[in-house]
Amino acid sequence: MTDHRSFSAPTYGARHVAIIMDGNGRWAKKRMLPRFAGHKAGVEAVRRTARAAQEMGLEALTLYAFSSENWKRPESEVSDLMGLLRRFILADLAEFEANRVRLKVIGNYRALDPSLVAMIDDAIARTADFGPTTVAVALNYGSQDELARAAQTIARKAAAGEITPDAIGPDAVAAELDTVGLPPLDLLIRTSGEQRLSNFMLWQAAYSELYFTDTLWPDFNGDTLARALEEFGRRERRYGGL
Ligand code: IPE
Ligand code: IPE
Ligand code: MG
Repeated sequence: MTDHRSFSAPTYGARHVAIIMDGNGRWAKKRMLPRFAGHKAGVEAVRRTARAAQEMGLEALTLYAFSSENWKRPESEVSDLMGLLRRFILADLAEFEANRVRLKVIGNYRALDPSLVAMIDDAIARTADFGPTTVAVALNYGSQDELARAAQTIARKAAAGEITPDAIGPDAVAAELDTVGLPPLDLLIRTSGEQRLSNFMLWQAAYSELYFTDTLWPDFNGDTLARALEEFGRRERRYGGL
């Protein structure tokens, strides 16, 4: 293990870090392995990174695990990913509980297989009172879908006379997003060299710092997270002011 720095690495004031975990397929390809091997190694990276986040005392780590567009992939890959998710919950829930890490899920996860939904709901319930660190996993998540669902909820409230259209401002929208209750997003990391958001946290990233690294997700660890946070510490955030 080369993962030393994460143990007490500073967060430079960052409360919430999100990661677009990309590059599993390319990691496997480089090794002439099937894509599944890349996803499996990606789960190890999730473990390492979640551990590092908890040791650093980050309040929230949000991980993009499966997008609402990833259903376009071959059925066999989708089922591999769902299988890995199932195994992750079975194998790692105990560690989440032991470390008092709260698990949250963002995205329309209720559309997943009912037995998986039940496992997720159980894991959420069992860790609901933990903290200070929350690991939020984005499953069947798409930012546009999240915003559309929020709009539906607000429209229903307006139709029921619970809210007037004029009262719908940014706070009212934010309150209906899946990320409600998480701190503002400070740092958004994407691995594997791609520089796009792929429908991830479009609203929440309004004033986040963006960090792109060529590191492929299966190679990510506490050190790479610490390096991203060091860079975050050098950024000057202005929020439109001076
Ligand atoms: C990210 O790795 C994992 C998921 C999107 C589930 P990819 O599977 O997208 O890997 P690349 O982009 O093909 O290398
Ligand atoms: C984004 O990665 C989704 C996740 C990391 C879960 P993709 O690999 O699906 O993104 P695109 O297709 O390259 O934009
Ligand atoms: Mg990809």
